[in-house]
Amino acid sequence: MTRTQIKKHLEELLGREIKDVTEIEAFGIVIEFREEECLIKRGSYETSISYDLGADKFFTAQKGFFKRLEPLMKDIQDKRGFGQLLSSWKSRVAEISERHEKARLEAELNKKLSESFADATLSAPVLSMGYEHYLNKVRDEMLAVFRAMGYTLVEERELEDEYHNFEALNIDADHPAREDQDSFYVGGDKLLRTHTSTSQIRTLEKMIKNGEEPPIAIVCPGVCYRRDAVDATHYPMFRQMEGLVVDKNVCFADLKGTLIEWAKAMFGGDTKIRLRPDYFPFTEPSAELSVSSPDLLGGKWVELLGCGMVHPQVFRNVGLDPDVWKGFAFGTGIERITMMRYGIRDIRLFAENDLRFLKQSL
Ligand code: PHE
Repeated sequence: MTRTQIKKHLEELLGREIKDVTEIEAFGIVIEFREEECLIKRGSYETSISYDLGADKFFTAQKGFFKRLEPLMKDIQDKRGFGQLLSSWKSRVAEISERHEKARLEAELNKKLSESFADATLSAPVLSMGYEHYLNKVRDEMLAVFRAMGYTLVEERELEDEYHNFEALNIDADHPAREDQDSFYVGGDKLLRTHTSTSQIRTLEKMIKNGEEPPIAIVCPGVCYRRDAVDATHYPMFRQMEGLVVDKNVCFADLKGTLIEWAKAMFGGDTKIRLRPDYFPFTEPSAELSVSSPDLLGGKWVELLGCGMVHPQVFRNVGLDPDVWKGFAFGTGIERITMMRYGIRDIRLFAENDLRFLKQSL
C-alpha cells in the first residue's frame, strides 16, 4: 500500500481531509504477528486478520478492515507514528504471506509428486525426426543451381487443357508424339499435364497479357502424369523440371553453356556432356543431353534431358514474333536423376512410403 493509499484510507476513517500521513498522531496499539493471523489490540479492543490474501489485499480487500481499526484510532495523537506503523505492518504481512504461499505451493507439489511418481533419472524417449524426401532434395539442389544463374521459379497447374499441353506446343491432334504421351483425361479436353513444357506457354501467355516483354529465364519443377504401365522405371506420376530462356540474342551455345554448368554443379567438376540430335515438336533444332561423370555409374553415358531452341511456331502461338525473339528450353525428369544419384533401382519406391527406404534419405 502506498503512502497516498494509506492517506486516503485514513481520511475516510477520520472523516476529514489530512495534509499528509505524517500529520496523524498518537496511539497505543499492540500488534501480534501470530502464525495464522495478525492480532491487533488496543486496550480492551481486539481484532484479528488472516494473511491469506497477501500483503496488498490484506489492507484493501479485507472486509471492513479499517472499520475494525476505527476503535484503535479514536484518540490517536501521533499520526506520523501511526503512518509509520501502517507501513512497517505492511512489510511484515508481506513477508509472512509470502512464506505462507511458498509453503502452500511446496505442499501442493509434494502431494502431486507422491501421487504420480516420475523417475527423473530415466532417459527421455527418442523423438523420431522426419526426413526430406529424395525427390525434394534433388529438386531443390537443381533449383539452387538455376537460381544462381538468375532463373526465376515458376510453378504451374497440373490440370491442363489439350491446347496448353499439346497444340500450343506444336503437337497437333494427329501428331505421333501425342501417342507417346497418353494422359489421364478428366472430362472434356481437361487432362493431367504430361510434361512441364506447359509452363512455357502459360508463362509467356501471362507475360504478353500483362503487356510485358522478354527477357525471361524460368525454371518450372512439378508433377506430371502419363498413362504408363508401372514397372521399375515407369510410374504414372513423376516429376520434371522445365527451363526456358527467351531473349533477343539467345543461341544454341547459350543452351550448351547452361547445361554444362548445370551438369558440373550436379555431378561434379569432371562431368562431360554430350548433345545428340533428337526430336521434339516444340523445339528446333532439338537435342538429347547425356552426361558422363566418374561419380555416376562409373562414367557411363546416361541420357538425362531433352532440349532445344524454341520452335518459331511456339512463339507465334503465344503472340511473340519469332524474327525478334529467340529462346531455348530444356526438360528433365527428377526421378531419373535421383535414381542415378542414389543408385535407386526401382521408381516405385518413391511413392510407396516405406519408412525403411525414406529413412535412408539423410
Ligand atoms: N517436355 C519434354 C519431355 O517431356 C522435354 C523437353 C522440354 C524437351 C523442353 C525439349 C524442351 O520429354
